[in-house]
Amino acid sequence: MPYKPGPVTRGLVLGCLLGILAPLVASGNWDLPPVAEPPEYGNILINRTSEINGVKPVVFSHWVHRRKHTCRVCHFELEFNMKTNTTEITEKTNKAGLHCGASGCHDGKTVFGHEEPHCDNCHSGDRKSGSEKFSAVAAALPKSNFGNKINWSLAVKKGLIEPLHFLSLKPAEEIGFKENMTLEAEWSGIPNAVFPHKSHTQWLDCNNCHPDIFNIKKKTTKHFEMVRILKGEFCGVCHLTVALPMQNCRACHPTMKSQRIY
Ligand code: HEC
Ligand code: HEC
Ligand code: HEC
Ligand code: HEC
Ligand code: HEC
Repeated sequence: MPYKPGPVTRGLVLGCLLGILAPLVASGNWDLPPVAEPPEYGNILINRTSEINGVKPVVFSHWVHRRKHTCRVCHFELEFNMKTNTTEITEKTNKAGLHCGASGCHDGKTVFGHEEPHCDNCHSGDRKSGSEKFSAVAAALPKSNFGNKINWSLAVKKGLIEPLHFLSLKPAEEIGFKENMTLEAEWSGIPNAVFPHKSHTQWLDCNNCHPDIFNIKKKTTKHFEMVRILKGEFCGVCHLTVALPMQNCRACHPTMKSQRIY
């Protein structure tokens, strides 16, 4: 007769598992990448061609830009990759109205363009540049404990910021997929992760995630695990350096009891 664990045995097995997992989770034994200070969180240095051509690297700040434009505008319409130094941005493309120089952006009319004396606004070489303006911006927006320490979703919901969702390429109407998904944990004793589509589609295009990062059918994405996420795959594409960081366990695992506060 096959062995069927009774409630006591099951309780014991679960207890043991939790016993092993609790210290792992509590001690933050995950290889969590360090999180930058709030004014620098999401600031990147672009240096694919700068220094080798005698100019300082370009600083790009996500918190400066995401108040005015959603991720979709840059990472879908303007085709910037979500990986630093992989997009072929040059002064030539900028001046031709692509990338940073797109119409409605750094075109010299809407905001400063690609001419003197503005070169160093971008080519500052300092990841901290713009930090002096951060506290005033953060003070006007709802708080969070992680990353920029700004609750960006709430800022949009309250109408405190109204980032443009497109420049010229409108999202298709009513393809919005608003389902909240529960991603069941593979490990017993680990609270499920949640994935709210709506919180994402207000910033992103379906194409930013489907089909490259996630399959469009629940539970079919292969190797969808925390270790991979922490290496920058799946949710980790955005949630390590720009969107709310991985340290915020409870944003994704709302029923997780303890979480280390960094
Ligand atoms: C105004 C344009 C703009 C907006 C808006 C924008 N990004 Fe970016 N993002 C960029 C550029 C430019 C890069 C660098 C691309 C390169 O060097 O190839 C980048 C890089 C990234 C990276 C790689 C970061 C790293 O550490 O390597 C991620 C992740 C990312 N963006 C996510 C987002 C998310 C999520 C949003 C919306 C909350 C967003 N971006 C909004 C322009 C933008
Ligand atoms: C709005 C931001 C911005 C402004 C303003 C700007 N640049 Fe750039 N520039 C970039 C970006 C982004 C790159 C790509 C950087 C990289 O990959 O290293 C770049 C690349 C370059 C390069 C590398 C070689 C090449 O041709 O791509 C040079 C040289 C350069 N810029 C010079 C200048 C000069 C000179 C000015 C002022 C006349 C200027 N830039 C203004 C954003 C800017
Ligand atoms: C951006 C969302 C997100 C954040 C933040 C997050 N997780 Fe996860 N986590 C997931 C997803 C998605 C899975 C895979 C589905 C599942 O197992 O629930 C997962 C799975 C897990 C698992 C199950 C084992 C595995 O490898 O799949 C554990 C344990 C876990 N997370 C712990 C944590 C801890 C501890 C934190 C905070 C340090 C954290 N998570 C933060 C999304 C997140
Ligand atoms: C930030 C990333 C992201 C964006 C943006 C996104 N999705 Fe998803 N979507 C997911 C994830 C994660 C899953 C679950 C995949 C899995 O479990 O393997 C999913 C699953 C789905 C599913 C399958 C649901 C099911 O129950 O099987 C559909 C349909 C879907 N998405 C449609 C859309 C549409 C339409 C858009 C644009 C309006 C969109 N998604 C935008 C991440 C995203
Ligand atoms: C392509 C980028 C991207 C990917 C991939 C992504 N997210 Fe997000 N996520 C965002 C952005 C942008 C926000 C808005 C809040 C912010 O920027 O901090 C967000 C917010 C959230 C929130 C908070 C929602 C709210 O309303 O406050 C949760 C929970 C979340 N993501 C879970 C996930 C999970 C789980 C995954 C993987 C299955 C995932 N995300 C993948 C970009 C992404």
